[in-house]
Amino acid sequence: MNAATTTVPVIAIDGPSASGKGTIAERVAEALGFHYLDSGALYRLVALAALQVGVGLDDETALAALAEDLDVRFSGGEIVTSDQIVTDNIRSEVCGIGASQVAAFPAVRQALLARQRAFREAPGLVAEGRDMTTVVFPDATLKIFLTASAEIRAERRYKQLKEKGIDANIRTLLLELRERDERDSARSVAPLQKAADARELDSSGLGIEEIVRQVLDWYRQKVAGSQHL
Ligand code: DC
Repeated sequence: MNAATTTVPVIAIDGPSASGKGTIAERVAEALGFHYLDSGALYRLVALAALQVGVGLDDETALAALAEDLDVRFSGGEIVTSDQIVTDNIRSEVCGIGASQVAAFPAVRQALLARQRAFREAPGLVAEGRDMTTVVFPDATLKIFLTASAEIRAERRYKQLKEKGIDANIRTLLLELRERDERDSARSVAPLQKAADARELDSSGLGIEEIVRQVLDWYRQKVAGSQHL
């Protein structure tokens, strides 16, 4: 990070799986004309690469090397790695669970840190994940901790999978979500937690438009507040 990049505004959104971070972050980025970082996609890509080349999900050194060498492009809504479009592949539950496992290793997180910070480009960035507010962009202009009950998140995930024609069981999804929450929150390095200066937003009873409007309002208030200093 240098002085030029730290003046670029960042809206950092953290929260558990299926809290709606991705949709909200994308919509907010679109409304402001900002760049968008789906940091979970990077961890999912490491898990996918490991599964493809046969690296064990418990081999920290080999996983960190994969993370370091990750060849990835985010282009026109698609995620491309080594000339392969993997936008849908990385959304599978296997990659999600694998991502949560590889993300627990400090060396993997360290290998992805600079890559994530490089997304901070003018006119601004909306970044979402688990440690955007605490580790990757601690100086973010606005920090949001987006939550929703586990039941509602399992229901959302169930609907998404059904829409894609993927068979799913809501009880299994709920169990997997709880397990993933536990692993993401209990790990020793960069656990999922609300930053002291983050605003908490419970999306359980809210529609997408309402949440997006709330985030944009908070952002505009922050910017207006800092201009009056
Ligand atoms: O947001 P997601 O479901 O695509 O993330 C997949 C996994 O990656 C998640 O279970 C934990 C991990 N992750 C992380 O540790 N830190 C991030 N900033 C983003 C994701």
